[in-house]
Amino acid sequence: MLLRAVGLTKSYGGARAGPVRVLQGVDLEVKAGEIAAIVGVSGSGKSTLLNLLGLLEPPDAGEIQFDAEPVSSLGRRRQARLRGARIGYVFQSFLLLSGLTAWENVLLAARYVGRDRRQAEREALRLMERLDVLHRRGHYPAQLSGGEQQRVAFCRAVLNAPSLLLADEPTGNLDAEHARVILRELRAQARERGATVILVTHRAEAAAEADYALRLQGGRLEPA
Ligand SMILES: Nc1ncnc2c1ncn2[C@@H]1O[C@H](COP(=O)(O)OP(=O)(O)OP(=O)(O)O)[C@@H](O)[C@H]1O
Ligand SMILES: [Mg+2]
Repeated sequence: MLLRAVGLTKSYGGARAGPVRVLQGVDLEVKAGEIAAIVGVSGSGKSTLLNLLGLLEPPDAGEIQFDAEPVSSLGRRRQARLRGARIGYVFQSFLLLSGLTAWENVLLAARYVGRDRRQAEREALRLMERLDVLHRRGHYPAQLSGGEQQRVAFCRAVLNAPSLLLADEPTGNLDAEHARVILRELRAQARERGATVILVTHRAEAAAEADYALRLQGGRLEPA
């Protein structure tokens, strides 16, 4: 997937505090098979940008295109379908469903798009094994460490082989060894499957994994 964003703006209104202008004209173009790293200080709008690219929130202005098709103006239902089929998102705060086990969380995405269950389960087994969380599959999120939740969230995001993978600090809670595993998996998503990967990170070795790094500053992206 070639992802293109043109002139994205986003503000959050505070009745008393006044509007917070987070994004002020973000342009971005990432090709299939490419990994783009996004860096920027806390509060610069990295997660906000991923939420827009993941079609979870509408931009105030600007446009997002997948494969040259405008998608930011699609209806909510078509966006939801597109998200389920083509976008994987590793959230900064994981967002695992607390009432489901790790295994059920990982398989939820496959169920949502109606994939063959046995095939999805076989892949989930292999993926959770590689990410070192298979032994935790029967546990609920509250019973998992932060790093384990992060790895389960990663498995959930990639199980459907998304064409666009958004990863918000996916190694933020991990030790060096587990971080390496995640970065290896991210690289494989791009290099072996041709996924477009957008990686928000503060780790130098994670940014080094990317084809290029961009800095979000003053509401815009610039070369890092
Ligand atoms: N729903 C919201 N309502 C009001 N303000 C918001 C909302 N979401 C984000 N913001 C504000 O937008 C700014 C950017 O937030 P965002 O979470 O995108 O930053 P970030 O770069 O991801 O930071 P971090 O590195 O700490 O994760 C912050 O000042 C935040 O307070
Ligand atoms: Mg963030």
